[in-house]
Amino acid sequence: MTSSHPAKAYPLSRPSIQRYFTSPQLLLRPSIRLKTSLYTLSITIILLVILALNATITPSTTPPTDVNTVPSHDSPADSGEGKDVAKGKDAHLVDQEIQRSFEEPDFALLSGKQPHEIGCDVPLEGEDKGVFMFLGIFSAADKRERRDLYRRVIIPDFPPDLFTVKFILGIPAYPENPLGPEAVSRSMLMNKIEAEMDRYGDMVMLPMLDNIDLGKTHEYFKWVAKEYSGEGRVKGRPKFIMKADDDTILVLPNVISGFKDLNCAHNIYWGTSAGRSHYFGDYFRGLAYAMSWPLVSWIGSADMPLAHIMKIEDARTGQWLRHLDPVTDPVKRIDMGWTMGDWNQLDVGIETVALHWLKLDEWVEQQHDRLLQIWSNASKPYDVDNGISPRLSIEKGKQTPERAQKEHQRQKELGWDVGGNLD
Ligand SMILES: *[C@@H]1O[C@H](CO)[C@@H](O)[C@H](O)[C@H]1NC(C)=O
Repeated sequence: MTSSHPAKAYPLSRPSIQRYFTSPQLLLRPSIRLKTSLYTLSITIILLVILALNATITPSTTPPTDVNTVPSHDSPADSGEGKDVAKGKDAHLVDQEIQRSFEEPDFALLSGKQPHEIGCDVPLEGEDKGVFMFLGIFSAADKRERRDLYRRVIIPDFPPDLFTVKFILGIPAYPENPLGPEAVSRSMLMNKIEAEMDRYGDMVMLPMLDNIDLGKTHEYFKWVAKEYSGEGRVKGRPKFIMKADDDTILVLPNVISGFKDLNCAHNIYWGTSAGRSHYFGDYFRGLAYAMSWPLVSWIGSADMPLAHIMKIEDARTGQWLRHLDPVTDPVKRIDMGWTMGDWNQLDVGIETVALHWLKLDEWVEQQHDRLLQIWSNASKPYDVDNGISPRLSIEKGKQTPERAQKEHQRQKELGWDVGGNLD
């Protein structure tokens, strides 16, 4: 009864060879073993494909954790953008896109009214009088103590008829949970900030979330350009616009002497290249740099895409300036060299223009006192009329101080990428 097995799902034994001769169609019927092997094989292949896809996708979906352009200043070695670049782990080395974005031309900058068409007619007297300089000190909402310290120690150096001094803030970040305790403390902080703004009138809250990497610098120039926009003379308009950090002391007499003979209708770009990164072309370090009104008005009026304003923001400024036609809009770059830099690396003297890296509050007071002492030792009043000739400062700024050289050497020994960092 070999032919009467229809109820069985499959034969328990393989058909004998002879049966393939009598019914050749059996050859086309796959055995259970073959089916099982095929199923197993396909499932294995599917699993392998899934694993392979996972393996290739995983690294690119993980954010590059090393991208960090915010200086952490955790050792005196750190001079601004220097350290991360020095360690060879800065954004440009990780993110090709960022580096490429420094090469791209920007349509808004190229198509806007160019600086020579903007000009600079800023009288310091009369009805529409402007100011010599707008000084924007980058701050953050929770830095109240630092602002109070600067209001007490540093800002009184700057005569209000010549300078408009403002702290530049962004909107504090919103916490993830809108009902949590962070949200409550954020709204308390906002109340305090509003009270502080009303009380001192020396703060600007830019319409953007506070972040050093998402275009705060451009937002600042945009604010200045808009605040003092208009044809002809505009009341309060500054001849020069400075950006400074809240751990920088500018030496008032030398800031005045450095700019007083400059024509603000020229494209002036003033600052220091000492200790900067060498990866982004020509730019001045962010501790403090300034531009004349036409440049700020031109940059601040350009509606640039985020890709052209974000990351390594001080180097961006140098990038924007490279858009100018060298014939119609030549840029006059004034490099103060090593008269501006970290206070513990400079040879501080009467030619010094700016001290940076004043991380501790007592350092601000000590270094300010030290400057006053140096000026007093030289029998020079520390005021608007007694600045050092910028030519002398620039000469002095060409000499690398011994401590900066030592620091450079130390970084080399640590194996950092100092080639890109320091001269
Ligand atoms: C000022 O002069 C005095 C006396 O010569 C000297 O001891 C002091 O170190 C000088 N101060 C500075 C900051 O150079």
